[in-house]
Amino acid sequence: MRLSGKTALITGAARGIGLEFARAYLAEGATVALADVNAAAVALAARDLGPKAHPIVMDVTQQDSIDHGFAESIRRMGKLDILINNAALFSAAPIVEITRKDHDKLFAVNVAGTLFCTQAAARHMIPRGEGVIINMASQAGRRGEGLVAVYCATKSAVISLTQSAGLDLIKHGINVNAIAPGVVEGEHWDGVDAFFARYENKLPGQKKREVGDAVPIGRMATAQDLTGMAIFLATPEAKYIVAQCFGVDGGNWMA
Ligand SMILES: NC(=O)c1ccc[n+]([C@@H]2O[C@H](COP(=O)([O-])OP(=O)(O)OC[C@H]3O[C@@H](n4cnc5c(N)ncnc54)[C@H](O)[C@@H]3O)[C@@H](O)[C@H]2O)c1
Repeated sequence: MRLSGKTALITGAARGIGLEFARAYLAEGATVALADVNAAAVALAARDLGPKAHPIVMDVTQQDSIDHGFAESIRRMGKLDILINNAALFSAAPIVEITRKDHDKLFAVNVAGTLFCTQAAARHMIPRGEGVIINMASQAGRRGEGLVAVYCATKSAVISLTQSAGLDLIKHGINVNAIAPGVVEGEHWDGVDAFFARYENKLPGQKKREVGDAVPIGRMATAQDLTGMAIFLATPEAKYIVAQCFGVDGGNWMA
């Protein structure tokens, strides 16, 4: 029960890694607000997780929605100790096919969403003199990828925001850090696989097998492989860790 009495808001928590983080935080004694733009899915997910899981319909690209989502989460949970900026979109295309619409959409969710949710959390946490903010970066933010320019750029920006917000907010007792996963099983990667099937002329499932085999540990991650770091970063043991990005990627990237 390492998070007993703590409250957390997790964006993009209706499925995948965010949902697994919610489950892990609840198991450690926390109360969790699951915030997601997908109202039906987040309601279902929260119902399955029990009374300490609060579904919050929130679109991280809309300031009104962020304001309302944070206010509602704090009203229901009484306070906010931990924010996990997890909501994100993925896309892939060769440089000559990238559209401005796709670029703007990814930056709105992955970068502006992270920044303005961080701001909303910080405004609540600063007067309390403590807080934890965890941003979901990616190995994709450590280096470019030929067909993944926009997503990689957004995740680079998340690492940069982690550094700047980490330095600005630590003087208020707020620790901002990031987790950079490698390749994680789930609906997200089913979508990634479909992109590569199209652009690299692969069979469905082929790209997933190839990236899994290429991970030094020998397989893709499950969402559960990431929960240990997400819990640790929210505990007092991590108090001296500031503005860092941790790879949890089976050895894919040496930071
Ligand atoms: N799955 C991987 O292999 C992998 C690898 C590296 C990093 N990551 C990062 O981990 C995080 C979680 O990934 P995942 O695989 O669980 O993704 P996912 O696509 O399965 O889930 C993302 C969630 O975000 C929600 N969302 C999308 N737009 C939103 C918006 N505007 N407002 C609120 N919610 C919104 C979706 O409804 C969905 O529930 C992301 O930041 C992703 O970039 C994932």
